[in-house]
Amino acid sequence: MIKIAPSILSADYAALGAAVEKLSEWGADYVHLDIMDGCFVPNITFGAPMCKALRKHTGLVFDAHLMVDNPSQWVPAFKDAGADIVTIHIEADRHAHRTLNYIRSLGMKAGIALNPSTPPSAVEYLLDSCDLVLVMTVNPGFGGQKFIRGAAEKISVIRKMLDDRGIHDVEIEVDGGVNVETAAICRANGADVLVAGNAIFSSDDPKKTIELLRG
Ligand code: DX5
Ligand code: ZN
Repeated sequence: MIKIAPSILSADYAALGAAVEKLSEWGADYVHLDIMDGCFVPNITFGAPMCKALRKHTGLVFDAHLMVDNPSQWVPAFKDAGADIVTIHIEADRHAHRTLNYIRSLGMKAGIALNPSTPPSAVEYLLDSCDLVLVMTVNPGFGGQKFIRGAAEKISVIRKMLDDRGIHDVEIEVDGGVNVETAAICRANGADVLVAGNAIFSSDDPKKTIELLRG
């Protein structure tokens, strides 16, 4: 069944604990934490201390999306902060294979993210070293952007790459501009996890929206 990972980037920053507590009630599977350093992306959000502060507010999976340069330096901090999944960008790490193994060595799941212009072939030799592949369908840095339909094609390409290698335990997560309409495209292409920020937090009925995103 499709998993839903609400991104708290679109939540009320003055009340993130309360926002996170609501996610279980709304039927979410993961909490998507958008970590931005102002270098890899043109925005700054929050780091491991925020993750640690939010940890006691929910038992949901913490899905940390590191939009940061040199992400390996932050891996221990996110372990200490209670992250369950740590996703790095292939464009931000010259030694991605080493960093993915490092994340796993600390008992967390390792994800690898691709920006819209990065081809699926960039992660071809990482598919057996990760637990999740994150397909960005917006240019990272902000919530509420328009879904890039061309990037969605990568979902089915990566699904085929995994199937051709007999790899069935890697999740394909899609992130950016996901709403009820674009979620159908992601599902049709083989996505396992859908990240949604604006679609959920701007909804009058977030619980219903999550159901509709699941399809
Ligand atoms: C963008 C982040 C996304 C974003 C999703 O850099 O990685 O997780 O918050 O927000 P929406 O769903 O509003 O595009
Ligand atoms: Zn994200």
